Amino acid sequence: MARLSDLIRERAPDSQNEEVSSRKVGSSSLSADRAWSVSARQELVKIREAVRSSTSPQLTGCTPLARQLVQLLNHSGDLVGWALNGQTEDYALDNALHVAVLGTKVGMGLRYSQDELERLALAGLLHDLGMWTLPVSLIEKRETLSEEERDILRTHPERGRRILAGQGGVFEWVSTINAQEHERWDGSGYPCRLKDRQIAEPAQIIGLVDTVDAMVTMRPYRKRLTPHQAIRELLLHAKTTFSLRALKGLGDQITLYPIGTQVRLNTGESGTVTKVNSCYPLRPVVTISKVGEVSNIDLSRGPSTHIVEVL
Ligand SMILES: [Fe+2]
Repeated sequence: MARLSDLIRERAPDSQNEEVSSRKVGSSSLSADRAWSVSARQELVKIREAVRSSTSPQLTGCTPLARQLVQLLNHSGDLVGWALNGQTEDYALDNALHVAVLGTKVGMGLRYSQDELERLALAGLLHDLGMWTLPVSLIEKRETLSEEERDILRTHPERGRRILAGQGGVFEWVSTINAQEHERWDGSGYPCRLKDRQIAEPAQIIGLVDTVDAMVTMRPYRKRLTPHQAIRELLLHAKTTFSLRALKGLGDQITLYPIGTQVRLNTGESGTVTKVNSCYPLRPVVTISKVGEVSNIDLSRGPSTHIVEVL
Protein backbone atom coordinates (compact mmCIF):
# COMPACT_ATOMS: atom_id res chain seq x y z
CA MET A 1 0.00 0.00 0.00
CA ALA A 2 1.30 3.48 -0.80
CA ARG A 3 2.11 5.90 1.99
CA LEU A 4 -0.56 8.56 2.43
CA SER A 5 2.10 11.27 2.34
CA ASP A 6 3.15 10.07 -1.11
CA LEU A 7 -0.43 10.06 -2.33
CA ILE A 8 -0.95 13.58 -1.06
CA ARG A 9 2.32 14.99 -2.39
CA GLU A 10 1.95 13.12 -5.66
CA ARG A 11 5.51 11.97 -5.01
CA ALA A 12 7.20 9.25 -6.98
CA PRO A 13 8.01 6.01 -5.13
CA ASP A 14 11.55 5.21 -4.11
CA SER A 15 11.55 1.87 -5.81
CA GLN A 16 10.65 0.63 -9.25
CA ASN A 17 7.12 1.19 -10.42
CA GLU A 18 4.66 -1.65 -10.45
CA GLU A 19 3.08 -1.40 -13.84
CA VAL A 20 -0.53 -2.37 -14.22
CA SER A 21 -1.64 -3.24 -17.67
CA SER A 22 -5.05 -2.19 -18.84
CA ARG A 23 -7.63 -4.92 -18.78
CA LYS A 24 -9.86 -5.55 -21.69
CA VAL A 25 -13.44 -5.24 -20.61
CA GLY A 26 -15.62 -8.14 -21.64
CA SER A 27 -19.28 -7.63 -22.40
CA SER A 28 -20.13 -10.36 -19.87
CA SER A 29 -18.68 -8.38 -16.95
CA LEU A 30 -20.56 -5.29 -18.09
CA SER A 31 -23.87 -7.15 -18.27
CA ALA A 32 -23.25 -8.73 -14.85
CA ASP A 33 -22.55 -5.30 -13.39
CA ARG A 34 -25.71 -3.95 -14.99
CA ALA A 35 -27.78 -6.90 -13.70
CA TRP A 36 -26.44 -6.31 -10.18
CA SER A 37 -27.30 -2.61 -10.19
CA VAL A 38 -30.82 -3.30 -11.50
CA SER A 39 -31.47 -6.01 -8.88
CA ALA A 40 -30.04 -3.91 -6.06
CA ARG A 41 -32.13 -0.93 -7.07
CA GLN A 42 -35.31 -3.07 -7.15
CA GLU A 43 -34.54 -4.48 -3.71
CA LEU A 44 -33.95 -1.01 -2.25
CA VAL A 45 -37.17 0.32 -3.79
CA LYS A 46 -39.11 -2.40 -1.92
CA ILE A 47 -37.28 -1.61 1.32
CA ARG A 48 -37.89 2.12 0.95
CA GLU A 49 -41.60 1.56 0.34
CA ALA A 50 -41.82 -0.59 3.47
CA VAL A 51 -39.96 1.95 5.60
CA ARG A 52 -42.12 4.80 4.30
CA SER A 53 -45.29 2.88 5.08
CA SER A 54 -43.97 2.13 8.59
CA THR A 55 -43.91 -1.63 8.04
CA SER A 56 -40.93 -3.79 8.89
CA PRO A 57 -38.74 -4.04 5.75
CA GLN A 58 -37.65 -7.41 4.38
CA LEU A 59 -33.86 -7.06 4.29
CA THR A 60 -32.66 -10.60 3.61
CA GLY A 61 -32.63 -9.97 -0.17
CA CYS A 62 -29.69 -7.61 0.39
CA THR A 63 -27.41 -10.36 1.68
CA PRO A 64 -26.91 -12.15 -1.69
CA LEU A 65 -26.58 -8.75 -3.38
CA ALA A 66 -23.70 -7.91 -1.03
CA ARG A 67 -22.02 -11.25 -1.82
CA GLN A 68 -22.46 -10.71 -5.58
CA LEU A 69 -20.99 -7.24 -5.33
CA VAL A 70 -17.80 -8.54 -3.72
CA GLN A 71 -17.51 -11.19 -6.45
CA LEU A 72 -18.00 -8.61 -9.20
CA LEU A 73 -15.44 -6.24 -7.73
CA ASN A 74 -12.96 -9.10 -7.40
CA HIS A 75 -13.02 -9.46 -11.18
CA SER A 76 -13.56 -5.95 -12.47
CA GLY A 77 -13.40 -2.32 -11.43
CA ASP A 78 -16.09 -1.26 -13.89
CA LEU A 79 -18.68 -0.74 -11.18
CA VAL A 80 -16.32 1.73 -9.52
CA GLY A 81 -16.27 3.80 -12.71
CA TRP A 82 -20.05 3.62 -12.83
CA ALA A 83 -20.33 4.71 -9.17
CA LEU A 84 -18.14 7.75 -9.84
CA ASN A 85 -19.72 8.92 -13.10
CA GLY A 86 -21.86 11.56 -11.42
CA GLN A 87 -25.16 10.49 -12.95
CA THR A 88 -28.24 9.83 -10.84
CA GLU A 89 -31.91 9.22 -11.49
CA ASP A 90 -32.89 8.88 -7.84
CA TYR A 91 -30.18 10.18 -5.50
CA ALA A 92 -31.19 8.22 -2.39
CA LEU A 93 -31.17 4.89 -4.24
CA ASP A 94 -28.09 5.59 -6.33
CA ASN A 95 -26.23 6.85 -3.27
CA ALA A 96 -26.88 3.53 -1.50
CA LEU A 97 -25.53 1.56 -4.48
CA HIS A 98 -22.53 3.87 -4.96
CA VAL A 99 -21.60 3.75 -1.26
CA ALA A 100 -21.80 -0.06 -1.30
CA VAL A 101 -19.52 -0.24 -4.36
CA LEU A 102 -16.97 2.35 -3.21
CA GLY A 103 -16.96 1.18 0.41
CA THR A 104 -16.32 -2.42 -0.63
CA LYS A 105 -13.50 -1.25 -2.89
CA VAL A 106 -11.88 0.65 -0.02
CA GLY A 107 -12.26 -2.44 2.18
CA MET A 108 -10.40 -4.43 -0.49
CA GLY A 109 -7.58 -1.89 -0.27
CA LEU A 110 -7.44 -2.49 3.49
CA ARG A 111 -7.20 -6.26 2.92
CA TYR A 112 -10.55 -7.08 4.50
CA SER A 113 -11.55 -10.74 4.44
CA GLN A 114 -14.34 -12.01 2.18
CA ASP A 115 -16.74 -12.05 5.12
CA GLU A 116 -15.80 -8.53 6.20
CA LEU A 117 -16.21 -7.25 2.63
CA GLU A 118 -19.67 -8.76 2.36
CA ARG A 119 -20.72 -7.11 5.62
CA LEU A 120 -19.26 -3.81 4.44
CA ALA A 121 -21.18 -4.07 1.17
CA LEU A 122 -24.37 -4.78 3.12
CA ALA A 123 -23.74 -1.81 5.40
CA GLY A 124 -23.25 0.38 2.32
CA LEU A 125 -26.55 -0.68 0.77
CA LEU A 126 -28.43 0.03 4.00
CA HIS A 127 -26.43 2.98 5.36
CA ASP A 128 -29.18 5.59 4.95
CA LEU A 129 -32.20 3.48 5.83
CA GLY A 130 -33.20 5.98 8.51
CA MET A 131 -33.51 8.78 5.91
CA TRP A 132 -36.52 7.00 4.46
CA THR A 133 -38.45 7.51 7.70
CA LEU A 134 -38.22 11.29 7.22
CA PRO A 135 -40.62 13.45 5.17
CA VAL A 136 -39.73 13.45 1.45
CA SER A 137 -40.21 17.24 1.45
CA LEU A 138 -37.36 17.52 3.94
CA ILE A 139 -34.83 15.17 2.35
CA GLU A 140 -35.43 16.61 -1.13
CA LYS A 141 -35.53 20.25 -0.05
CA ARG A 142 -33.25 22.39 -2.23
CA GLU A 143 -33.29 25.54 -0.11
CA THR A 144 -31.02 25.99 2.89
CA LEU A 145 -32.31 23.99 5.86
CA SER A 146 -33.27 25.71 9.11
CA GLU A 147 -31.48 24.64 12.29
CA GLU A 148 -34.61 22.77 13.35
CA GLU A 149 -34.70 20.89 10.03
CA ARG A 150 -31.02 20.04 10.36
CA ASP A 151 -31.68 18.60 13.80
CA ILE A 152 -34.43 16.41 12.36
CA LEU A 153 -32.12 15.24 9.56
CA ARG A 154 -29.46 14.37 12.12
CA THR A 155 -31.82 11.84 13.69
CA HIS A 156 -31.57 9.54 10.67
CA PRO A 157 -28.61 7.43 11.87
CA GLU A 158 -30.47 6.55 15.07
CA ARG A 159 -33.69 5.93 13.13
CA GLY A 160 -31.82 3.53 10.86
CA ARG A 161 -30.16 1.82 13.81
CA ARG A 162 -33.53 1.13 15.41
CA ILE A 163 -34.95 -0.45 12.25
CA LEU A 164 -31.91 -2.68 11.78
CA ALA A 165 -31.47 -3.63 15.42
CA GLY A 166 -34.80 -5.42 15.34
CA GLN A 167 -33.80 -7.63 12.40
CA GLY A 168 -31.32 -9.93 14.13
CA GLY A 169 -28.22 -11.69 12.78
CA VAL A 170 -25.80 -9.65 10.70
CA PHE A 171 -28.24 -6.74 10.70
CA GLU A 172 -27.46 -6.14 14.39
CA TRP A 173 -23.86 -5.45 13.33
CA VAL A 174 -25.02 -3.26 10.42
CA SER A 175 -27.16 -1.27 12.88
CA THR A 176 -24.01 -0.12 14.71
CA ILE A 177 -22.40 0.97 11.46
CA ASN A 178 -25.60 2.77 10.55
CA ALA A 179 -25.60 4.65 13.85
CA GLN A 180 -21.97 5.78 13.38
CA GLU A 181 -21.70 6.64 9.68
CA HIS A 182 -21.88 10.40 10.33
CA GLU A 183 -19.40 10.37 13.21
CA ARG A 184 -16.04 11.87 12.25
CA TRP A 185 -12.47 11.07 13.28
CA ASP A 186 -11.93 14.51 14.92
CA GLY A 187 -15.21 14.43 16.87
CA SER A 188 -17.01 16.86 14.56
CA GLY A 189 -19.70 14.39 13.49
CA TYR A 190 -23.06 13.37 14.91
CA PRO A 191 -25.08 12.17 16.75
CA CYS A 192 -22.69 11.26 19.61
CA ARG A 193 -19.52 13.18 18.65
CA LEU A 194 -17.49 10.00 18.82
CA LYS A 195 -13.77 10.31 18.06
CA ASP A 196 -11.06 8.25 16.34
CA ARG A 197 -11.18 4.58 17.33
CA GLN A 198 -14.51 4.97 19.09
CA ILE A 199 -15.90 4.84 15.56
CA ALA A 200 -15.94 1.36 14.00
CA GLU A 201 -13.69 1.31 10.94
CA PRO A 202 -16.46 0.16 8.56
CA ALA A 203 -18.49 3.21 9.69
CA GLN A 204 -15.48 5.44 8.94
CA ILE A 205 -15.26 3.93 5.46
CA ILE A 206 -18.99 4.32 4.79
CA GLY A 207 -18.85 7.95 5.94
CA LEU A 208 -15.85 8.64 3.72
CA VAL A 209 -17.26 7.14 0.51
CA ASP A 210 -20.66 8.72 1.21
CA THR A 211 -18.83 12.06 1.19
CA VAL A 212 -17.08 11.15 -2.07
CA ASP A 213 -20.41 10.26 -3.66
CA ALA A 214 -21.97 13.55 -2.56
CA MET A 215 -19.02 15.46 -4.07
CA VAL A 216 -19.03 13.72 -7.46
CA THR A 217 -22.78 13.42 -8.04
CA MET A 218 -24.63 15.92 -10.19
CA ARG A 219 -27.33 17.70 -8.16
CA PRO A 220 -29.81 20.35 -9.31
CA TYR A 221 -28.50 22.90 -6.83
CA ARG A 222 -24.73 22.53 -7.16
CA LYS A 223 -21.95 21.55 -9.53
CA ARG A 224 -20.23 18.22 -9.22
CA LEU A 225 -16.52 17.65 -8.79
CA THR A 226 -14.72 15.14 -10.96
CA PRO A 227 -13.57 12.01 -9.07
CA HIS A 228 -10.03 13.33 -9.37
CA GLN A 229 -10.96 16.67 -7.83
CA ALA A 230 -13.02 15.09 -5.05
CA ILE A 231 -10.46 12.52 -3.95
CA ARG A 232 -7.59 14.95 -4.24
CA GLU A 233 -9.58 17.42 -2.13
CA LEU A 234 -10.15 14.78 0.55
CA LEU A 235 -6.52 13.63 0.55
CA LEU A 236 -5.38 17.22 0.96
CA HIS A 237 -7.97 18.69 3.31
CA ALA A 238 -9.82 15.94 5.20
CA LYS A 239 -6.95 14.41 7.15
CA THR A 240 -8.54 15.23 10.50
CA THR A 241 -12.12 14.40 9.49
CA PHE A 242 -11.40 10.87 8.32
CA SER A 243 -8.87 8.33 9.53
CA LEU A 244 -5.60 8.18 7.60
CA ARG A 245 -6.11 4.44 7.14
CA ALA A 246 -9.48 4.94 5.43
CA LEU A 247 -8.05 7.74 3.27
CA LYS A 248 -5.16 5.50 2.26
CA GLY A 249 -7.58 2.74 1.33
CA LEU A 250 -9.50 5.21 -0.81
CA GLY A 251 -6.42 6.63 -2.52
CA ASP A 252 -5.07 3.16 -3.20
CA GLN A 253 -8.22 1.75 -4.71
CA ILE A 254 -9.88 4.51 -6.64
CA THR A 255 -8.18 5.27 -9.90
CA LEU A 256 -7.96 9.04 -10.01
CA TYR A 257 -6.94 9.14 -13.64
CA PRO A 258 -8.71 6.33 -15.51
CA ILE A 259 -7.19 5.19 -18.78
CA GLY A 260 -8.15 7.62 -21.51
CA THR A 261 -8.20 10.70 -19.26
CA GLN A 262 -6.77 13.78 -20.98
CA VAL A 263 -4.35 15.61 -18.69
CA ARG A 264 -1.93 18.54 -18.69
CA LEU A 265 1.47 18.21 -17.02
CA ASN A 266 3.48 20.86 -15.16
CA THR A 267 5.79 20.89 -18.19
CA GLY A 268 2.95 22.38 -20.22
CA GLU A 269 2.55 19.21 -22.30
CA SER A 270 -0.85 17.53 -22.72
CA GLY A 271 -1.39 13.81 -23.08
CA THR A 272 -3.56 10.79 -22.42
CA VAL A 273 -3.39 8.40 -19.46
CA THR A 274 -2.52 5.00 -20.91
CA LYS A 275 -1.60 3.02 -17.79
CA VAL A 276 -2.57 3.32 -14.14
CA ASN A 277 -0.25 2.72 -11.22
CA SER A 278 -1.98 0.93 -8.36
CA CYS A 279 0.67 2.00 -5.83
CA TYR A 280 0.71 5.66 -6.83
CA PRO A 281 -2.67 6.58 -8.28
CA LEU A 282 -1.71 10.21 -8.78
CA ARG A 283 1.17 9.13 -11.04
CA PRO A 284 0.00 7.13 -14.06
CA VAL A 285 1.75 6.69 -17.42
CA VAL A 286 0.90 9.53 -19.81
CA THR A 287 1.32 9.21 -23.56
CA ILE A 288 2.16 12.40 -25.38
CA SER A 289 1.79 12.72 -29.15
CA LYS A 290 3.74 15.39 -30.94
CA VAL A 291 4.15 15.76 -34.65
CA GLY A 292 5.60 12.47 -35.87
CA GLU A 293 6.53 11.34 -32.36
CA VAL A 294 4.84 9.46 -29.51
CA SER A 295 6.39 9.28 -26.05
CA ASN A 296 5.32 7.60 -22.82
CA ILE A 297 6.08 9.35 -19.55
CA ASP A 298 5.86 7.17 -16.45
CA LEU A 299 5.19 9.77 -13.75
CA SER A 300 6.05 7.32 -10.98
CA ARG A 301 9.71 7.24 -12.09
CA GLY A 302 10.60 10.80 -11.20
CA PRO A 303 9.39 13.50 -8.87
CA SER A 304 9.77 16.49 -11.19
CA THR A 305 6.90 15.87 -13.61
CA HIS A 306 3.31 15.65 -12.43
CA ILE A 307 -0.27 16.25 -13.51
CA VAL A 308 -1.64 19.72 -12.91
CA GLU A 309 -5.01 19.52 -14.64
CA VAL A 310 -7.58 17.16 -16.10
CA LEU A 311 -8.72 18.48 -19.49
FE1 LIG B 1 -26.57 9.33 6.21
